[in-house]
Amino acid sequence: MRLSRTSVLAVAVAFFCAGFSEAQVAPLIANVTSRQAPTFDGPWHVIVDPYDVGSLDYRAKALSGNSAFFKDHKPQSPSELVEYDFDTSGQLNVPGDWNTQRDSLLFYEGTVWYKRAFNYALAPHRRLFVHFGAANYLATVYLNGEELGQHQGGFTPFDFEITDRVKPRDNFLIVKVNNRRSKEFVPTVNTDWWNYGGITRPVRLIEMSETFIQDYFVQLAKSSPKQVAGWVQLNGPQARQKVTIRIPEAGISQSVETDAKGRAGFSFPTDLQLWSPENPKLYQVEIASETDKVSDRIGFRTIETHDNDILLNGKPVFLRGVSIHAEAPFRTGRAWSEADAQTLLGWAKGLGCNFVRLAHYPHSEAMLRMADEMGVMVWGEVPVYWTIEWENPATLQNAKNQLNEMIERDHNRAALIIYSVANETPISDARNRFLGQLIEEAHSADPTRLVSAALQANESFTGNHITITINDPIAANLDVLGNNEYIGWYTRTPAEADAIDWESKYDKPLIMSEFGGDALFGKHGDAGERWTEEYQENLYIHQIAMLKRISFLRGTTPWILMDFRSPRRTLPGIEDYFNRKGLVTTQGEKKKAYFVLQDFYRQLSNTSTTQTK
Ligand code: GCU
Repeated sequence: MRLSRTSVLAVAVAFFCAGFSEAQVAPLIANVTSRQAPTFDGPWHVIVDPYDVGSLDYRAKALSGNSAFFKDHKPQSPSELVEYDFDTSGQLNVPGDWNTQRDSLLFYEGTVWYKRAFNYALAPHRRLFVHFGAANYLATVYLNGEELGQHQGGFTPFDFEITDRVKPRDNFLIVKVNNRRSKEFVPTVNTDWWNYGGITRPVRLIEMSETFIQDYFVQLAKSSPKQVAGWVQLNGPQARQKVTIRIPEAGISQSVETDAKGRAGFSFPTDLQLWSPENPKLYQVEIASETDKVSDRIGFRTIETHDNDILLNGKPVFLRGVSIHAEAPFRTGRAWSEADAQTLLGWAKGLGCNFVRLAHYPHSEAMLRMADEMGVMVWGEVPVYWTIEWENPATLQNAKNQLNEMIERDHNRAALIIYSVANETPISDARNRFLGQLIEEAHSADPTRLVSAALQANESFTGNHITITINDPIAANLDVLGNNEYIGWYTRTPAEADAIDWESKYDKPLIMSEFGGDALFGKHGDAGERWTEEYQENLYIHQIAMLKRISFLRGTTPWILMDFRSPRRTLPGIEDYFNRKGLVTTQGEKKKAYFVLQDFYRQLSNTSTTQTK
């Protein structure tokens, strides 16, 4: 659970000024990959602790003495009783989920303790942070036997300041990671993806000057291709500074003065090449204050809607997409690396995609940066999935935190055009209130992007004609409608799609955010036989014919690019704990339906129409 950005910053500055040694969750440091930040990639000692004996005694009371694992205590005499030892316990790689690193941990949900020792000689007047790309689900972090803090949510980054705690030698960083599911969490107890646990993205040590550039936003103003508007946020005692924003290639250099809180806004005219899938132009942007500098590769584009159209750089666009889970290609497990991103986005581009839906949670920063480089637009999402505890204020705050952390991390990525606040959530007043607040939060945190959600529209009948109408009440607050449907798989036969029409109560663009069916690669039969490639192929043929008849359709992200692991899929010899709705296998083998979609996208890109007709 995080405090809001400004209050954390005020706390951090106050603590810094007071020289108080209490570590706090720090404001999220932007663009850590561009910083001199050594990672702790590699094997870490771990203790698998299903009964939490590392933190609770046999009466379930919290431990604080040497028997607490975060103390990393060693017996001081042969008679001393110590029942744990990281250094003789096994190891697991970080980053990486634990489930696919040991067969014995494949189904494991519980606590695993991680230890990493390190030396660090921090020079005077320098600050040090430990940054986590992500850890699923609840991470409690300790340094040298003291708790630094806790983070909830398995898919967003967090960091802690350790300036006053780090020693030149023999530091021990201990992270307790627990991925137990609970109904008040986000996501809640039921998901159709594997609950991969662990420190799933890189851990970095980031050394900074006393006052450093903590975050910045450099994008085009909403619907103004000729105006950059943004801000810069410093962190540290020297809050008032001159900051310069340079885009050398465009001959741009703008200076501003930060205020007492270390913040400055800016806005200036430009004439930059605009980022698009056809031309994913990125500029080197350099931000320099008097005490720090950071550079980033940033693209500039506008994204907006007009009636049923989605306009990229002012022109209508059709989003030829596919849904993707952060399942690693080839090896399976939680995807995190640049190579994972390159492979998955490469496969999507092979399909003819200019867009991907990253479901159902924030994927790695590497994925967003790769999408920037490869020219693939992105739908990002927070795991408000199925039946969340709508009435629980802590659940709402948790969802807001994950949304803000996603926005904070990715708000300079041109590829990212849509924030999705939910997937397949049952309509109710409590749900509408909950999602209404999330939509507001997204719009206020970043008014330059579009907000959507994956809804589920209902059928109505006139005689034997079927009409599906999008009339979900929260759609009124969305910029773009998303809708999941499984005609031909969970409902009806594939051919019945031919007689289905779609309507919408809203004058807004629709993205069909999910459709599809399962097929086991290599299983063949006639088109009526489930699980065969022919069944999936036939289903796609009828789907595409139906989609072409939807006048307000402006994008499609069929479910799903690649087969992925799911605890809900137990059918032996077919599913074996994999959802088989992929158009390719985990090894990249293409199923017949892949070519049906590829053909449809080739037609669309050749006609470069926004209409599917
Ligand atoms: C749902 C859901 C997905 C799920 C898919 C399926 O619509 O959003 O997470 O995997 O359907 O059933 O395959």
